[in-house]
Amino acid sequence: MGSKLAFGWACLLTSLMVLVTEVRGQVKFFNVMNYSAVADGATDNSQAFLKVWKEACEWKGNGSVLIPPGSYMVNSVRFEGPCKGSVGVVIGGLLKAPADPSKFSTDSWINFRYIDQLTVSGGGTLDGQGQVAWGLNDCNKNSSCPRLPTTLRFDFVTNAWIDHVSSLNSKNNHIVIFGCENLNMTHIYISAPANSPNTDGIKIGSSHGIRISSSTIGTGDDCIAMLSGTKDVNISNVFCGPGHGISIGSLGKNNGDNVDGVLVQNCTFRGTSDGVRIKTWAFPSLGTASNFIFQDIFMDQVGNPIILDQEYCPYPPCSQQTSLLQISNVTYINIWGSSSAKVAVTLRCSASKPCQNVVLEDINLGYRGRDGPVTALCSHVNGSANGHQSPPPCI
Ligand SMILES: *[C@@H]1O[C@H](CO)[C@@H](O)[C@H](O)[C@H]1NC(C)=O
Ligand SMILES: *[C@@H]1O[C@H](CO)[C@@H](O)[C@H](O)[C@H]1NC(C)=O
Ligand SMILES: *[C@@H]1O[C@H](CO)[C@@H](O)[C@H](O)[C@H]1NC(C)=O
Ligand SMILES: *[C@@H]1O[C@H](CO)[C@@H](O)[C@H](O)[C@H]1NC(C)=O
Ligand SMILES: *[C@@H]1O[C@H](CO)[C@@H](O)[C@H](O)[C@H]1NC(C)=O
Ligand SMILES: *[C@@H]1O[C@H](CO)[C@@H](O)[C@H](O)[C@H]1NC(C)=O
Ligand SMILES: *[C@@H]1O[C@H](CO)[C@@H](O)[C@H](O)[C@H]1NC(C)=O
Ligand SMILES: *[C@@H]1O[C@H](CO)[C@@H](O)[C@H](O)[C@H]1NC(C)=O
Repeated sequence: MGSKLAFGWACLLTSLMVLVTEVRGQVKFFNVMNYSAVADGATDNSQAFLKVWKEACEWKGNGSVLIPPGSYMVNSVRFEGPCKGSVGVVIGGLLKAPADPSKFSTDSWINFRYIDQLTVSGGGTLDGQGQVAWGLNDCNKNSSCPRLPTTLRFDFVTNAWIDHVSSLNSKNNHIVIFGCENLNMTHIYISAPANSPNTDGIKIGSSHGIRISSSTIGTGDDCIAMLSGTKDVNISNVFCGPGHGISIGSLGKNNGDNVDGVLVQNCTFRGTSDGVRIKTWAFPSLGTASNFIFQDIFMDQVGNPIILDQEYCPYPPCSQQTSLLQISNVTYINIWGSSSAKVAVTLRCSASKPCQNVVLEDINLGYRGRDGPVTALCSHVNGSANGHQSPPPCI
């Protein structure tokens, strides 16, 4: 079993090296085992990892950190650039965070910052060991609690490819992308229980040119969330469940919030509380959210398969004012499957800023409940409905 695994890993590594060599010329590997890392699942390897990062980053060519199979305990590490060439991290092993949340001094566990041309790959796993943290009493809102770290965080990273990486049981968000540009994620596997609080799968803010594909996300909060400053994001072939769906927002707490250009395509949602969601607070801040396409999406027993809500209020009571955030150009095409609630389509826009150009095309959602067929609910929506429509459209 072990040798089979090691063999598989060696093959993956060899093909990766061949690939990388072909594409980029020589890559120099820096093996953490040569920097006194100990793969016993208990020794803190933070210093060894930082030392090896520094060497790879300062290599005047294409350097890559190599973490072979094995179990490595590691505390918060910040992999910081700028580097002298392109830089990679090949994670073949299992990285384990300390279970005790008070051991973290920063808001992230594995943090990449200010790096151009980064590759993270290798098929390894980041285990956030979040179980103890989830038991704390609503810790993200309580200053007497330790700050719970995001498992994997990218700040100001450009031209990056994150491929074949797993994140288990994060204490807080699994992955955060902030201030990044041209970053691709493929074959990402994210898993935490449905009842783990605040464990968003991938959270994106102030970034553009982000692509996420061929990935599986099951967690206790949003599978993917896109916050203010996000522009030009493509998401395809993502499986989401359990979780709270793929969300734009929440927006509208601050003046100037904006998200522009999101395409969600070929995705499956299973047993999630929400499917494709746009949410703004009922708060009089100016902002915009526009140019979204949700296309070719299968819903399997989803709570709110299609929901656009400008009165978002997860913890009532909220100030019931009206949103001044303008939503426009939202298209839903070919969305089918089953709703686990009677209202399958909700388009609740702002009375002060009605949604503009919302299009429903070929919607086929069913319901197995006893209280009649599925329905749609609209307020202050301007747009059109074409093709097959179940529930009957309210636009
Ligand atoms: C680095 O570590 C690997 C695996 O432990 C070993 O085979 C190799 O000889 C080491 N290289 C150097 C330069 O020490
Ligand atoms: C490093 O990789 C880049 C492409 O990412 C390539 O253009 C360059 O030639 C490589 N440098 C070396 C020293 O191999
Ligand atoms: C804050 O956290 C502490 C320790 O977990 C807990 O005793 C306290 O009740 C929490 N306060 C609030 C307002 O949640
Ligand atoms: C990301 O994917 C796009 C589309 O496939 C490609 O054009 C781009 O070069 C990729 N970027 C990186 C950094 O791999
Ligand atoms: C997303 O896909 C659309 C349509 O294929 C394309 O025009 C756009 O450039 C893509 N954006 C990104 C960030 O890849
Ligand atoms: C979506 O799936 C269809 C059918 O499997 C495929 O032809 C198409 O290329 C996919 N599109 C994307 C963006 O993955
Ligand atoms: C909405 O789409 C139309 C037509 O493509 C475009 O002209 C307009 O600029 C878009 N609105 C926004 C706010 O981007
Ligand atoms: C809907 O759009 C039409 C055409 O642009 C416009 O005349 C109308 O006032 C809009 N309705 C609302 C509620 O915004």
